[in-house]
Amino acid sequence: MTAPTLAVRERVLSLPAAELPAYVYDLAALRAHAARVRAALPAGVELYYAAKANPEPGLLTALAPYVEGYEVSSGGELAHVPRAVPGRPLAFGGPGKTPAETAAALAAGVDRFHVESLHEVRVLAELARRAGTRAAVLLRVNLPLPAERLAGSSLAMGGGPTPFGLDPADVDTAVRLLTDGSAPHLELRGVHAHLASGLDAPAQAAVAGTVVTWAAGLAARHRVRLAEVTVGGGMAVDYAAPDTRFDWAAYGKELGRLAEAHPEFTLRIEPGRALTAYCGWYATEVLDVKRSHGEEFAVVRGGTHHLRTPATKAHDQPCALLPVDDWPHPWPRPAATGERLTLTGQLCTPKDVLARGVPAPGLRAGDRVAFCLAGAYAWNISHHDFLMHPRPGFHFLDRPL
Ligand SMILES: Cc1ncc(COP(=O)(O)O)c(C=O)c1O
Repeated sequence: MTAPTLAVRERVLSLPAAELPAYVYDLAALRAHAARVRAALPAGVELYYAAKANPEPGLLTALAPYVEGYEVSSGGELAHVPRAVPGRPLAFGGPGKTPAETAAALAAGVDRFHVESLHEVRVLAELARRAGTRAAVLLRVNLPLPAERLAGSSLAMGGGPTPFGLDPADVDTAVRLLTDGSAPHLELRGVHAHLASGLDAPAQAAVAGTVVTWAAGLAARHRVRLAEVTVGGGMAVDYAAPDTRFDWAAYGKELGRLAEAHPEFTLRIEPGRALTAYCGWYATEVLDVKRSHGEEFAVVRGGTHHLRTPATKAHDQPCALLPVDDWPHPWPRPAATGERLTLTGQLCTPKDVLARGVPAPGLRAGDRVAFCLAGAYAWNISHHDFLMHPRPGFHFLDRPL
């Protein structure tokens, strides 16, 4: 939604200008959204939150009642997540795990290892042996897909040459290594796939179907029992249509059909963006409004060093404009004269653009802007130190349940 929730709006308008920019999270809105997602999923389908989308402890905690566990993809996330949500199941993935990270994951008793190469199988087998512990393994597979399956995605991690997961040509060797007695400290539990980001519900359901069918074929070919299939995250967040939502009900129905057809599998999903994007706003004020060669620009406090999302995804970050009538200065107030303008930040680069073509007639210096859909891959993917501007404030708004 472009309009901030009431609680967010009040906070944004009440903060002194010097305390902007600020990330403002509505945790009650996050809980309500997560409850709707949970309710749309069939019983038995497990929901893990991909912490990389936003690892703020307040968000991890707010999600806890609605998720079975958390997907972590680095030693840093592995150490951080249990501090916020102790005792919750963790799945540890990511390409390029160091031996130290793998050893730390074993010591932490991680519930599932998403193993991404034959080398990783071998390292994990040896480290688990040395630690005298057993590790439950899902093979992350970059499985073959019909070319059109990922056509609508914004980022593809699979279906073609990528560094993610096992190549299909290596999977049979991986299964043999895990089941022929040579890796007694590893237990093959199933298959993991995360093939793309930004797919709508029909496309996600089709991908999930392909993964599950492929996993069933693998189990049959090797005559092994696979108990779990993770079909990944990547549920679309449409920044061009911020009021729309991924169709969780339709996706849930398809997962239900898959679960019924394959009762041998526990199905699991691990979304990040589509869970937390909507609960965060990046709020700031307009510092200046100017014309340049016939176009208008509003320069805001902060920029893409705090909110890199529009730069990385090449979109216009949707926003709400919040007028502030007070202008305490004796000089004229800069104001937009046209219908549309570009919202830029304070960085000395033309790439510091938050949104183009924003309908903002009359926008003035001192007005406030709340960029929405800033709850995922926003602050935590940004290059904070470029130009040494101050860091934003952080506000976690909550109401009793
Ligand atoms: C392995 C894995 N799982 C889950 C996710 C979450 O994806 P999204 O935030 O698009 O749902 C990612 C994101 O890159 C990922 O790499």
